[in-house]
Amino acid sequence: MPLTITYLGHSGFLFSDGQTTIAVDPFLTGNPKATMKSADVMCNAIVLTHGHADHVGDTVAIAQKNNATVFGAFELCNLIGSKGVKSLEHMNPGGRVKTSWGWVALTQAFHSSSYDADDESVYTGQPCGAMINLGGTTIYHAGDTAIFGDMKLLGELYQPTIACLPIGDRFTMGPEHAARAAEFVNPKYAIPIHYNTWPPIEVDPARFKPKDVEVKVMKPGETWKV
Ligand code: NI
Ligand code: MN
Repeated sequence: MPLTITYLGHSGFLFSDGQTTIAVDPFLTGNPKATMKSADVMCNAIVLTHGHADHVGDTVAIAQKNNATVFGAFELCNLIGSKGVKSLEHMNPGGRVKTSWGWVALTQAFHSSSYDADDESVYTGQPCGAMINLGGTTIYHAGDTAIFGDMKLLGELYQPTIACLPIGDRFTMGPEHAARAAEFVNPKYAIPIHYNTWPPIEVDPARFKPKDVEVKVMKPGETWKV
């Protein structure tokens, strides 16, 4: 079964093998580039890279509506659980959780992680990237991160087919570092993420030019069958 990838905008995706759909960082409400509403998202699982609002997004509403399991860092899962989500997979970088449809592994990311709302600021553990295996295909979603040399090791260990890499600069890698990151990970395809959502992360994705990795620039709302 081919993998169907839907880009939700910013760092958000739906990955489906036709039976199981996994949402990653489903930030829709308040996302100026989103084309989908959280009420329209159908999924079995949600993988979160870290606690920032532009990644947690609509997770609680989507998880509750779909009875979806949320995968994320230990403290982040505790926060999501405190908001009423029942099915949680607490993890940390380096660990892997096997599922009926594949597995999720969390990886390191160089960033920060907290959940900041009007009335609270909560530490949400380590910021992470995620390796997701669905229907036999492995996807690396780097989360928000700077480049790091061990991306090469992650590529060797997990051999992802697709890498979703932030290119927006300021809070994450910019496009030139992200191109080096793609070369380190060495997937077949790289999808640039976390750019052009707001003016501070405006970047021309044409600057993202890794060698020997095919770049797939996706528009928010676009679906691609791999
Ligand atoms: Ni962040
Ligand atoms: Mn972010």
